[in-house]
Amino acid sequence: MEQDPSRSSNLKLPVLDRRNFITALGGAAAVATMSSEAKADALEMHLNDALNSSKKTFPSVAEVNAQINTRPYRRGVGKLFAGQEGNVGYLPAMPSNPTLIDFIRLRLDGSRDHCLQSAHLAKSRGMDDEVVLACLLHDLPMSLMRSEHGFWSAQLFEPYVSERTTFAIRHHASLRFFPDEDAGYEYPDLYRNMFGEDYVPPPHMQAEYKMVRAHRWYMAPRLVTVNDLYSFDPNVKVELGEFEDIIGRHFRQPKEGLGLDGSRVAHMWRTIANPDSPL
Ligand SMILES: [Fe+2]
Ligand SMILES: [Fe+2]
Repeated sequence: MEQDPSRSSNLKLPVLDRRNFITALGGAAAVATMSSEAKADALEMHLNDALNSSKKTFPSVAEVNAQINTRPYRRGVGKLFAGQEGNVGYLPAMPSNPTLIDFIRLRLDGSRDHCLQSAHLAKSRGMDDEVVLACLLHDLPMSLMRSEHGFWSAQLFEPYVSERTTFAIRHHASLRFFPDEDAGYEYPDLYRNMFGEDYVPPPHMQAEYKMVRAHRWYMAPRLVTVNDLYSFDPNVKVELGEFEDIIGRHFRQPKEGLGLDGSRVAHMWRTIANPDSPL
């Protein structure tokens, strides 16, 4: 059964760019030394400043594109494969028959906290297990690839989760470009910064939106967008253990281990397990 969107329609989601916020506090190391109270005060101040700034400025598409040759990596690559702040590090060894939880702990950590917080938010709002699982998984493969990440994510998880969870994961990324205020989702300022304020989604994405909007499962990916982002709360540390039960009931873990089960996406899991392999 789909969720009633009116349950979340009154939620006012604060606009917060987590990276900018952490940078403003002096970086992740500085944040780690702050007490919970200090973090809460800083967050409140930051959000107040954002609310009070009368004029927001965003780059144009041309200005965003002009930054391409200022980076040693392309923006679409996953964090597992490119050091965005210096060199990459050594990775911990994987167990011989790795589970989803092993992958989340040891490899898919680039978006892990964001996914945990999104899933926690969805669960606390009483959303069903398939939607909570979609929130938990939706951005994890951004460690592999950021471009088209809804499709990469859906492909990676499709053999192991329900069709509706796959549908939610696949289409959440495109729905992020199309507001639905009745469902509690506004176009994010973050995207005005990332893509340019005059960005128009390409025709294939417009067509995907039209299809999903008319689909009986529309609310599943929409609810992923409603719980996506802005769920940063320095006082909430969400543990993966909170979702072991849902994973156990709704993720068909292969007994040989992910990457070793002969599935059509096994190579993707092996690539994530062994990103240092040159071939
Ligand atoms: Fe996403
Ligand atoms: Fe997300």
